[in-house]
Amino acid sequence: MTIRKSGFNRRSTAEQVTGGLDLSGKTALITGVNSGLGFESMRVLASRGAHVIGAARTLEKAAGACDQIDGDTTPVACELSDFDSVVDCANEVISLDRSIDILMCNAGIMALPKLEQKYGLELQFVTNHLGHFLLVNYLLDRVIEAPAGRIVLLSSAAHMSPRPGGIEFDNLSGESGYSGWSFYGQSKLANLLTAVELSRRLESTNATANAVHPGVIETNLGRHMGGFLTSAIRVFSPLFERSVEQGAATQCYVATHPKVEGVSGRYFADCNIARSTRHGKDTKLADYLPG
Ligand SMILES: NC(=O)c1ccc[n+]([C@@H]2O[C@H](COP(=O)([O-])OP(=O)(O)OC[C@H]3O[C@@H](n4cnc5c(N)ncnc54)[C@H](OP(=O)(O)O)[C@@H]3O)[C@@H](O)[C@H]2O)c1
Repeated sequence: MTIRKSGFNRRSTAEQVTGGLDLSGKTALITGVNSGLGFESMRVLASRGAHVIGAARTLEKAAGACDQIDGDTTPVACELSDFDSVVDCANEVISLDRSIDILMCNAGIMALPKLEQKYGLELQFVTNHLGHFLLVNYLLDRVIEAPAGRIVLLSSAAHMSPRPGGIEFDNLSGESGYSGWSFYGQSKLANLLTAVELSRRLESTNATANAVHPGVIETNLGRHMGGFLTSAIRVFSPLFERSVEQGAATQCYVATHPKVEGVSGRYFADCNIARSTRHGKDTKLADYLPG
């Protein structure tokens, strides 16, 4: 398949990449809508007419975010590190009886300085990968029944610096060695490989799955990193960062734009197809991924 250049770039905003699109009649589920890129994506997709199911850790957070924007929204609770909460969320979404045109797996945590675990597994892997993997699997039929459902997973350029071997299957607990960044990288590689694997499983359907690096944007994502690193990033931020409006562009582009129709299993950055790593294209690794 020939994949056309988008005509957009790192300076494009989510409003620009969705300009002129009419999303009325479409339903989008977005995780992490109370902050950063998730909030902006919800705002822009709702402004184009989509009904947005806005997920956050608690119903209060989700409702608070939905209340701040114009458009048609339904707030839902989804604590990704609590699998019961993920299943409850999925069942609530299913009970709305809507097909899902856009499933945007956006929420995430980054570079926890100390090892934290849930279910005996490292917390970034649980939150960023396993929680979303569970959500996607519960809702996959709803995406498949949409005319051309799109799953968009927030990966990161950090997927290029993962654990040894890409996914360190014999150390998913983190107890045999831990660093916040490489475990973040591992979880973001898992998001990318999920898109690769889903695209294979969705081949006989109209649904697609892709992964996205949004750029480097100052959001609340750095809140776990601690004083020194946060200050260092602030000092250098004018060199590297783009605005939240620009940061949300690639995920909104991949979620909605006609030029991405039928494109699946790819990694996008700056609103265009981008190169990933050897691990990022490793279908065997994707096949072994827990979930
Ligand atoms: N910003 C960047 O430079 C950058 C670069 C590459 C990739 N990304 C990716 O982009 C995505 C969005 O990040 P952002 O920059 O918008 O960060 P953000 O402002 O910190 O937003 C992250 C969202 O995820 C939610 N979240 C965190 N843990 C959760 C959990 N256990 N269950 C449910 N929701 C949870 C947060 O909720 P709370 O507020 O309640 O914690 C928040 O709504 C992430 O996946 C991140 O890895 C960002």
